[in-house]
Amino acid sequence: MKKFLLSTGNPYEVLIGKDFLKDSGFLINKCLPSPRKLCVITDSNVNTLYAQTLLTSLKDHGYETSKIVFPAGEHSKNLTTYLNIMEALADEGFTRSDALVALGGGVVGDLVGFAAATYLRGIAYVQIPTTYMAAVDSAVGGKTSINLQNGKNLAGAIWQPSLVLCDCDTFETLPPEKRLDGLAEAVKSAVVSDASLLEHIKAGDYEYVIERCVSIKKSFVEADERDYGLRQILGFGHTIGHGLEKLSSYTIPHGQAVAAGMVVEARAAYKMGLTQTDLSGALTEILTNLGFHLHVNYSAEDIYHYALMDKKINGDYITVVIPDTIGKCHLHKISLTDLRRFIQVGLNPA
Ligand SMILES: NC(=O)c1ccc[n+]([C@@H]2O[C@H](COP(=O)([O-])OP(=O)(O)OC[C@H]3O[C@@H](n4cnc5c(N)ncnc54)[C@H](O)[C@@H]3O)[C@@H](O)[C@H]2O)c1
Repeated sequence: MKKFLLSTGNPYEVLIGKDFLKDSGFLINKCLPSPRKLCVITDSNVNTLYAQTLLTSLKDHGYETSKIVFPAGEHSKNLTTYLNIMEALADEGFTRSDALVALGGGVVGDLVGFAAATYLRGIAYVQIPTTYMAAVDSAVGGKTSINLQNGKNLAGAIWQPSLVLCDCDTFETLPPEKRLDGLAEAVKSAVVSDASLLEHIKAGDYEYVIERCVSIKKSFVEADERDYGLRQILGFGHTIGHGLEKLSSYTIPHGQAVAAGMVVEARAAYKMGLTQTDLSGALTEILTNLGFHLHVNYSAEDIYHYALMDKKINGDYITVVIPDTIGKCHLHKISLTDLRRFIQVGLNPA
């Protein structure tokens, strides 16, 4: 089992290995000792696959358990599901010494993290990622959120988990398209920090890929836990990507949207003279070979509308992520007028 310590305000461990979901009770007991109540929150797909194993292990280790299940999919990452969770916790008399367990992909993790951040002004939670997306990215770093009508991840908090348990055996049941989806954030990690990671992604060496992505994320999160500076580099591809997700009413999944977003942003950065290298061709080749569809079917103006909801906007300026080479990016501030042009030129492959 590989172990990382995240040295954030509240430090915590990320454990990556195999066949330890059944030992979750034992592992959680080390940082959140029983007796206490634990509410396992999961989605309708993951519930049927893994909830029973987890609940049995928690009960065996002295926890009083309950479970909340919501319909799978990005559409559930909203105020209604969030409020249902909060009311259920209050109904069950959860106190500040109790905790939540997020069992699932990024949707479950983001929602449960936000519920944990805000219930009684903050209670503990554990992340158990069951998708590559969650394992390589969302379960680590404490960004929690829900979507609002106006856009993606608009309500949220930075609230670190007490533990992340990544049992790679759970990825065996992922349908092929969901496996692919998580790889977009892994490619992003390669572009922002480590070109050699691409070879491992291509080779399907997923346990290594998860470990390397977690160690890359660890370095950014520890340098800038609140996401006011360096950590924003991890948002490469997301200014465009979040807009594509919202414009498609979330029929384009997060990974596909980020993949297309990276190509557009790389091309835009070059055409605007913000980098000397045009990485859009190399990225298109890498992502297409992995199986991503990169065609963008929305107008620059529509994407600009949602890009105005980006959290990297400050007043009349937005910070964009500029790739210099595969393995190195930097941040650059542009005006919102230039953002419109950035999107226009990025969408045009000519
Ligand atoms: N907080 C962050 O830092 C961060 C980073 C990246 C992405 N995200 C968020 O993560 C979300 C996307 O995450 P996702 O791609 O994991 O989506 P998801 O949570 O919707 O999971 C994808 C699908 O896979 C199913 N599933 C999950 N685990 C499974 C398993 N082991 N076997 C079979 N099916 C399984 C789910 O039920 C769902 O249908 C987006 O909302 C995105 O904004 C957050």
